[in-house]
Amino acid sequence: MIRFERVTKRYDSAPGSEGDEAAAAVDDLTLEAPTGKITVLVGPSGCGKTTTLRMVNRMITPTSGTITIDGRDTASLDVAELRRGIGYVIQAAGLFPHRTVLDNVTTVPRLLGTDKKAARTRAMELIERVGLDPALAARYPAQLSGGQQQRVGVARALAADPPVMLMDEPFSAVDPVVREQLQNEFLRLQSELGKTILFVTHDIDEAVKLGDQVAVLRVGGILAQLDSPAKLLADPVDDFVAGFVGRDRGYRALSFAAAPELSLTEEPTVRLGATADEVRAVGRPWVLCVGDHGEPVGWVRAAAVESEVTRTLLHRGGTVASTSGSLRALLDAALSSPSGRGVVADDEGRLVGTIRASEVLPAIETRRDAGTPEGATAR
Ligand SMILES: Nc1ncnc2c1ncn2[C@@H]1O[C@H](COP(=O)(O)OP(=O)(O)OP(=O)(O)O)[C@@H](O)[C@H]1O
Ligand SMILES: [Mg+2]
Repeated sequence: MIRFERVTKRYDSAPGSEGDEAAAAVDDLTLEAPTGKITVLVGPSGCGKTTTLRMVNRMITPTSGTITIDGRDTASLDVAELRRGIGYVIQAAGLFPHRTVLDNVTTVPRLLGTDKKAARTRAMELIERVGLDPALAARYPAQLSGGQQQRVGVARALAADPPVMLMDEPFSAVDPVVREQLQNEFLRLQSELGKTILFVTHDIDEAVKLGDQVAVLRVGGILAQLDSPAKLLADPVDDFVAGFVGRDRGYRALSFAAAPELSLTEEPTVRLGATADEVRAVGRPWVLCVGDHGEPVGWVRAAAVESEVTRTLLHRGGTVASTSGSLRALLDAALSSPSGRGVVADDEGRLVGTIRASEVLPAIETRRDAGTPEGATAR
């Protein structure tokens, strides 16, 4: 566990600004980041997130207060020893430009005395683990995409197998699609590794997706709220947090509510290649089309089928919810379906049935009446 106890950081006031004491970058912060969990620090630019992170590995010295890791005061530890136990990942990866990917990842273990062969074997494992093609190991950072560089940055931070990871906006320099992939891989990796992670972002969506708990900071380095993502969305403590977590939070909070067992309606289906007569025989304006394994592939408007159902006739708008998914996914499937019937599949992707928004809403009401705003933690 990392514990901040009344930690304050004031940078020296700028030369020329006489008299006034510098404003605090971090102000009287008390916070615990539990072992094996992801604690996200989120807040607007300049609110002291990076400062908070860098005080943990003593790249910045607190003005007052103490930071302990597993009960040991970091100020009393040898800096080299302290940093050995901490992986650090920064925005845009911060790789050594003149070293190959492989050498970037092996740098720290080599410094720690791991022999070359063992360090390389482990590095190749990590490179694959973070989702990189091993063939990229011989390249230089400039020959990689931004997303690939971030993955190398994560592999490098993990190379010495530190129990603690500090991550400062590690996914912010990549486009939204790559970013989502990196986030998902990061969560998968963390479910295997169980590191104690302090993760900084200014993106509230990323914060609620990744965090086991989320600390919202306001400018001046003041902790505004520390809660689970579900609680943060459902119950912001003040106007600042409410404004920061933003619009649609009622809807977004449903992603933390596991879908209850709802009775689904059996949906008549056709296959790709079904004839116009077969489609009309279903007797509905929108007909669901499934693939060879019973997986939903799209809706087709019966009136649009002249000879047979082809892929180009399929409507692409509808999302598919999973039986093990969230209430948000169920509601979204219903709302996005051209027929108004939301498609629900099992974990293997096979169609189970459909559900209407009007059937999902009572489940939301029931949950509210039962007083379980946090629900289960489906993501
Ligand atoms: N070396 C420094 N000297 C003086 N002031 C600093 C220094 N580093 C940061 N600050 C100030 O401390 C405050 C917090 O900075 P910090 O970098 O921790 O913010 P941040 O939350 O990480 O912001 P961002 O989201 O923009 O990265 C800011 O007002 C900043 O200007
Ligand atoms: Mg920062």
